[in-house]
Amino acid sequence: MKNYMSSAALIFLLAASPAFGAEVPLYKDAKAAPAARAADLLGRMTVEEKFGQLQQLDGLWEGNYREEHLALAREGRLGSTLNVRTAPFANTLQKEAVERSRLGIPVLFAFDVIHGYRTIFPVPLGESAQWEPQLAEAAASAAAEEAYSVGLKWTFAPMVDIARDPRWGRIVEGSGEDAYLGSKLAAARVRGFQGADYGAPWKVMACAKHWVGYGAAEAGRDYNSTDISESALRNVYFPPFKAAVDAGVVTFMTAFNDLNGVPSTANKRNISGVLRGEWGFKGFVVSDYTSVKELILHGLAADGEDAAVKALSAGVDMEMVSTLYRETGPAALAAGKISQADLDASVLRVLELKFRAGIFENPYIDPALEAKTLKTPEKLALALNAALNSMVLLKNEGALLPLSPGIKKVAVIGALADSRADMLGSWSADGKPADAVTLLEGIRAVAPGASLVYSSGAFAGAADKDLDRAVAEAAKADVIIAAVGETFDLSGEAASRVSLALPGRQLELLERLKKTDKPVVAVVFNGRPLELGWLNDNLPAILEAWQPGTQGGLAVAQTLFGLANPGGKLPITFPRSVGQVPIYYGHRNTGRPPDAKEKYTSKYIDSSFEPLYPFGYGLSYSSFSFSGLEVSPAVIAPGGKAQVSFEIKNISRRAGSEVAQLYIRDEAGSETRPVRELKGFQRVTLAPGEARRLIFELGPEELGWYYAGGYAVEPGRFKIYAGNSSAGGLEGVLEVKP
Ligand code: GLC
Repeated sequence: MKNYMSSAALIFLLAASPAFGAEVPLYKDAKAAPAARAADLLGRMTVEEKFGQLQQLDGLWEGNYREEHLALAREGRLGSTLNVRTAPFANTLQKEAVERSRLGIPVLFAFDVIHGYRTIFPVPLGESAQWEPQLAEAAASAAAEEAYSVGLKWTFAPMVDIARDPRWGRIVEGSGEDAYLGSKLAAARVRGFQGADYGAPWKVMACAKHWVGYGAAEAGRDYNSTDISESALRNVYFPPFKAAVDAGVVTFMTAFNDLNGVPSTANKRNISGVLRGEWGFKGFVVSDYTSVKELILHGLAADGEDAAVKALSAGVDMEMVSTLYRETGPAALAAGKISQADLDASVLRVLELKFRAGIFENPYIDPALEAKTLKTPEKLALALNAALNSMVLLKNEGALLPLSPGIKKVAVIGALADSRADMLGSWSADGKPADAVTLLEGIRAVAPGASLVYSSGAFAGAADKDLDRAVAEAAKADVIIAAVGETFDLSGEAASRVSLALPGRQLELLERLKKTDKPVVAVVFNGRPLELGWLNDNLPAILEAWQPGTQGGLAVAQTLFGLANPGGKLPITFPRSVGQVPIYYGHRNTGRPPDAKEKYTSKYIDSSFEPLYPFGYGLSYSSFSFSGLEVSPAVIAPGGKAQVSFEIKNISRRAGSEVAQLYIRDEAGSETRPVRELKGFQRVTLAPGEARRLIFELGPEELGWYYAGGYAVEPGRFKIYAGNSSAGGLEGVLEVKP
């Protein structure tokens, strides 16, 4: 029988063949599902192209690509870069990938946009002092717009590491010590960066980092080993990451630290077991900077190939900066050390996110966007508001603050009062110090009638003459504003300190300023809790300003002179001494709780066991009362819910905001739990005399705990605390009965 194909079928086949240019590969069909496009594209890729998609390389700090990036992009072997940014650089490199490589897979451009890109917001620890997730979300959204306008589509933020050791420099970058506050802020920042669709214009992919336990570095020394119990992982370090997953974060970054003997960058239990297995995370995981290669130094990997095999097999999809996947991967695959399934799964996750991020359809950035997006009046106003709300009033004896704008002579002492870079803090992306408002400038703007004398005084190792001059100037003034604390480079990555003291001769300067008998207001600029005991004992007023960002100096000045009323609360305990560290409110009670009157209790013989300022603490120019705590019903079943309400009233003559905080304590169970756990907060602004009844709900999500046997709400009595910090407050009881 003569074999022939009908003419119609023949025409269809010919017409469908690429040679006729009619067929568009599925992966190029913008209407097709991202997963289908990724699968189609994967099927067309060589092994080298696959490993190339898992490679992220570092650009030059000013934003340019490196020469070798062009060739790799042309060969389709460069999945992503960090630090390459702005249209001229990004578009040029992108053109090599999109228009000159075989498959045209775009490069994914990433950058550390942590607390702003060009408009810089308070450092995250300071932003956390706002206790206002919606402000954090708005700041992240503004940062995403600016990042997008320079060609970025991925930020390595939010950093959600819980930290309880202020010696650790990166404590500045997170949300402090508490899992609940950290979880709320992690979710808010993810929403801000990604929005409802991270593939839309003005939005970027977020990255929850550093997975996991990085903040528990032994001795507070960055990159140091960590030993963390399963209970602490589940109840302290995991929750903010889970909150980020629940908020839709699409990437994770693994951490540098060794975790219980298995470095986080090769920790299969946490990456494939918990993150993907238990939590159903569908995005992709990038290593930290050369953390794949560092598996050799850790003593986990024998050589480069072994490191690549262990990281990829653990679930790390993309290798940041070190090049072991690309260089050793093909041979390891051929030798069966890396499975084809693992390789393809990682490539699929990266490709699918690139499709969803929209960079196949929109690989280039319009060069005109940058100028009209950066540092707009709206973003600067948002940054000012963010800084104002991050201020924490630590002391205000005799209501010295706010100062009268009519005050005559003001001495502004301390180098930090005239430093732009130190207002921006660490991880300030493309923030420009020249944009920043200093405290000196802020005071000039807010109190134009005051005659100001300024002296840099002493910072680190200043000479006697510096102190003498500063003190002499100060003695002539009506009030002294002393700007003390840390420069931006004394916290952040690789900036751990053994001391929490004010650096240099600042304390000596303050002691001499006090001797002038003029009132001294201390403004503290810092990236970590510092030892402020002498200030607290000897000065009438202390304002914690953190590193408040581009508008920081103006925000501090507006607060000092009463144009704004501080309402921030500490997201981190301030110790009296570094010798108390780690010290945090959510500690366990022990069998011998500290009691200054009893010898054989858990305390120190040379210091108080109490912190200087507790978690959640902060004053205001207003005063508030708490009353009428109600728990209803007072008895619930283990899966039940109770409503807790109480009244907060502004009992002063000035409008202001207060952060109402709700804590619980499970008094007895199959495992011991902290003496307090934050389970609710609301920052409320009240007019003079205004009262409001606040309502919180306590259910399984709030009352439960991860025990050895899993998450549960155990029967028993729960103490309820409601107040304005983690100390004191109204007390109530909730019974959980089966
Ligand atoms: C750094 C940091 C990480 C950052 C990355 C890229 O070492 O640990 O937080 O995102 O490298 O800059």
